[in-house]
Amino acid sequence: MIAGIGTDIVEIARIAEKLQRSEYFKTHVFSAEEIGYCEKQKNPAMHFAARWAVKEAYLKAYGLKFIGNHRLPEIETCHNEDGKPFIQLAGKALQEFKEKNFTHIHLSISHTEQHATAYVIIEK
Ligand SMILES: CC(C)(COP(=O)(O)OP(=O)(O)OC[C@H]1O[C@@H](n2cnc3c(N)ncnc32)[C@H](O)[C@@H]1OP(=O)(O)O)[C@@H](O)C(=O)NCCC(=O)NCCS
Repeated sequence: MIAGIGTDIVEIARIAEKLQRSEYFKTHVFSAEEIGYCEKQKNPAMHFAARWAVKEAYLKAYGLKFIGNHRLPEIETCHNEDGKPFIQLAGKALQEFKEKNFTHIHLSISHTEQHATAYVIIEK
């Protein structure tokens, strides 16, 4: 059954500004794999913004108002061989997911030149 849904929309310019201002922002929020993926793209900020939206959408689906014990890089966006994105959890985020008897996460991402959006469904 569906345990939660979450969505988020992010202004790409806001993320681009944060990335320009602080290397700490990048490494505090994104995993090494996410940084590698985004920096290979034509417009890295668009993909960083999408990953930010994924983390926010996941936390909404999970039911958290605040980040709590979760470290943001532990909520990582990866891709299968077709390019379809999925969320890979690690550390505390994975532990708490299992403790709640959650089983599956569904993810969809989209972006325009201005905005990135993500939609997450968690099942249990
Ligand atoms: C891959 C595809 C879904 C991307 O859609 P898009 O409109 O070009 O771009 P969007 O901004 O909406 O989506 C991009 C995101 O789609 C996701 N995506 C990529 N391949 C995907 C796939 N096979 N399945 C689901 N999602 C996919 C990625 O997360 C990507 O974002 P990211 O690179 O930051 O992770 C699209 O190009 C495609 O192949 N569509 C198939 C259907 C089709 O041919 N439609 C033609 C018009 S009807």
